[in-house]
Amino acid sequence: MFKLIVVSLLLVVVGSDAFTNPIALNAPDPWMVYYKGFYHLIATTWSNYFGIRKARTLAGLKSAQNQVVYRFSGHSGWAPEIHQVNEKWYLYYTSCGPNTNTDDVACHRNRVAESAGDDPMGPYTHKADLIDSDDVFELDPSLIKINGKHYLIASFIPDIQKLYIRELTNPYTLARGEKHLLSEPTFDWESDGGSVNEGPEPLYHNNRTFVVYSAGYCDTENYKLGLLEFIGRDPLNISDWRKYPNPVFQKNISRGVYGPGHNGFFKSPDGRDDWIVYHANDSPNGHCDMNRTSRAQKFRWGADGLPVFGVPEAEGVELQAPSGE
Ligand SMILES: *[C@@H]1O[C@H](CO)[C@@H](O)[C@H](O)[C@H]1NC(C)=O
Ligand SMILES: *[C@@H]1O[C@H](CO)[C@@H](O)[C@H](O)[C@H]1NC(C)=O
Ligand SMILES: *[C@@H]1O[C@H](CO)[C@@H](O)[C@H](O)[C@H]1NC(C)=O
Ligand SMILES: *[C@@H]1O[C@H](CO)[C@@H](O)[C@H](O)[C@H]1NC(C)=O
Repeated sequence: MFKLIVVSLLLVVVGSDAFTNPIALNAPDPWMVYYKGFYHLIATTWSNYFGIRKARTLAGLKSAQNQVVYRFSGHSGWAPEIHQVNEKWYLYYTSCGPNTNTDDVACHRNRVAESAGDDPMGPYTHKADLIDSDDVFELDPSLIKINGKHYLIASFIPDIQKLYIRELTNPYTLARGEKHLLSEPTFDWESDGGSVNEGPEPLYHNNRTFVVYSAGYCDTENYKLGLLEFIGRDPLNISDWRKYPNPVFQKNISRGVYGPGHNGFFKSPDGRDDWIVYHANDSPNGHCDMNRTSRAQKFRWGADGLPVFGVPEAEGVELQAPSGE
């Protein structure tokens, strides 16, 4: 009897919690890592700081404070991500400088900040600007590692919005040379409301390297995800990348999820499962603004080795917490 009670108590304490989407309000362009017992969620603030919501459970993120980890001079901070390299965390983001026109979104440039130690909570200090020589509107920087080398992947707007890849000599220094085209809108579904490829996110599985990106205009219900895969030898050569012809994640009207996109990936606490974190609106009239909410769900891998993201889960539906939580 005593044993039974102890076991049930343990189950209550360590048993996996359910959670519901959204996991955080006013949190567009989410990025998440599970590190040393805690989820860390960072998202766009549209302001001159970034914060991290930290919690032991996914369900706990909803009431977690967005604790400021980095303040910068300038404004309109978007699309933060943190990547760990050699004991430090690098916070990639895009923002406008202190002297640029507030009304002009084209003032955005890519930048990186560095953590003081190995805590994802920082604090962070500005490390470098990663501005391309073209000096065009840049956004959504991310770090990808291929064959042991780091590359910056990001969206640039020379005319229409495309993805480029650029070699780095370390996490905060651009190598000499040019950025190279990685993907541009070619399919109709990449031009819903506007021709856009943005938010490139690295995804690694079974020795294969993918980039999941957002397509279409973020102000519409048709914002969605597409898939690229590195299949050759030279990451800077677009011929060495395969672009898949169909979107891999999109709105679902019967579930009331609109414009799902600009995602990140994270592992369950036990490292077994892959999860996606993304933002979406709960109405077709939602906008590309701070009202977008962060959502999370587990995904699986198909027999062909490709990710299967499935259908976005409806808000308020109880989902099983990540394995090992
Ligand atoms: C992973 O891929 C690389 C490059 O294609 C190959 O050289 C290597 O043998 C592969 N490793 C495994 C474990 O499959
Ligand atoms: C890119 O790859 C293609 C196909 O392998 C090749 O023909 C081309 O020369 C490569 N381009 C560069 C700049 O290396
Ligand atoms: C929307 O979700 C339902 C299940 O809730 C599914 O049957 C349907 O195929 C989905 N539609 C799209 C367009 O994915
Ligand atoms: C959120 O939506 C409301 C209603 O549509 C709008 O008035 C407001 O400006 C939005 N807030 C932000 C921060 O984007």
